[in-house]
Amino acid sequence: MKHHIKIPPPGPNASHIIDIMKKHAYNSTFIYPLVIRNGHDCIIEDVDGNEFLDFTSCIGSCPLGYSHPGILEILEKYSKNGTHKIAGQDFYSEEHAYLAQKLASIIPENFKTFFINSGAEAVENAIKLAYRKMGPLPGVSCINAFHGRTLGALTFTCSKPVHKFNFPELPSKRIKFCVDDNDPEIDAVEKLLKENKIAFIISEVIQGEGGYFVASQQFIKNLRKYADKYGVPLILDEVQSGLGHTGKWWAFEHYGIKPDIMSMAKALQIGVTAFDKRFDPQEQSVISSTWGGGSRIDMAVGAKTIDVIKKDKLLENATKIGEILKKGLSELIGKGDIIDVRGIGLMIGLECETKTKRDEVLMKLFRKGLLMLSAGQKAIRIIPPLIITEDQAHEGLALLHETCKGN
Ligand SMILES: Cc1ncc(COP(=O)(O)O)c(C=O)c1O
Repeated sequence: MKHHIKIPPPGPNASHIIDIMKKHAYNSTFIYPLVIRNGHDCIIEDVDGNEFLDFTSCIGSCPLGYSHPGILEILEKYSKNGTHKIAGQDFYSEEHAYLAQKLASIIPENFKTFFINSGAEAVENAIKLAYRKMGPLPGVSCINAFHGRTLGALTFTCSKPVHKFNFPELPSKRIKFCVDDNDPEIDAVEKLLKENKIAFIISEVIQGEGGYFVASQQFIKNLRKYADKYGVPLILDEVQSGLGHTGKWWAFEHYGIKPDIMSMAKALQIGVTAFDKRFDPQEQSVISSTWGGGSRIDMAVGAKTIDVIKKDKLLENATKIGEILKKGLSELIGKGDIIDVRGIGLMIGLECETKTKRDEVLMKLFRKGLLMLSAGQKAIRIIPPLIITEDQAHEGLALLHETCKGN
């Protein structure tokens, strides 16, 4: 399937919905005037019948694209089941058990899982498990990190002032997120751990919201090494990078290390905190939530997503198409507004000269039928569904080339 713009977006139906939203809903992080009606494969259809090639996968949340036959089967199966949503930490369900079992095949050995609603809550519960064991000490996070917006997670988020102004914080310390093994601050975490009692270190492996910056090998290895040396848990936040976008199940696998606790969400449809059994609080009721583990359709979709990624070799596809995209995008450096291309697999960042140019490029591409997202100060993030084909990669590249050359 290809992109196809019938009416310059936003068309009349989209404009009508956006007017209602402007009147009645908080204007949170809406990007462009796209009102989604349906989708197939890597294509999102708006309410005016325009079809957009999707290089966002809804920020990594739709790894199988749209209307995947396996997912439609699940929706049909539950269409007549009135217990599709239950109080999932209070009552057991098959979907909870089977997803936990399936996750166990792709997360580190000896890890258990706790299901929750969102990425921020997956982080929130990751830090709670660390505090439970370590006590209410400061936590360490990285400058430019994004870990979500609940108040606990927000303390350790540090990417944009707009997320944080006037919101109170837990005790915390910051370190630089190093993208270069030769960065003079590559060992800064050791000094911090030596001089302070710390509850945990939390980091992304690829900073998502912060601009698609990839951690250097040594930086992540140092976090692991010094966390071990000083007996502090390492939490890795895989909410955006997890479940295959980097060509591996988890971005940390590119570094040959494992976390003690990890957070995941988006592609999995629910939030999950996974933890080494050493961090299991043992006592019942330390963490819970009504809907955590209760969205039976979402858990069934999450489990199906893992099956399809395995069966259709989508990790390999992410690596292969990621290479094609990165090669095509690198040809843009210095020609238009693009000054850098970085990323792993299908998590690619394009750095623009200025924020204004970045926003112009995104809007022009939206009008032509290619969806991409902003990240950081002046980067574009590309995170297409894992099912993207070579033809679709070239279709998107052609639009990008034409647009970045000023057409
Ligand atoms: C790395 C990371 N952690 C946490 C979150 C928060 O997830 P949610 O928006 O589901 O609360 C995000 C969301 O973008 C994220 O990218």
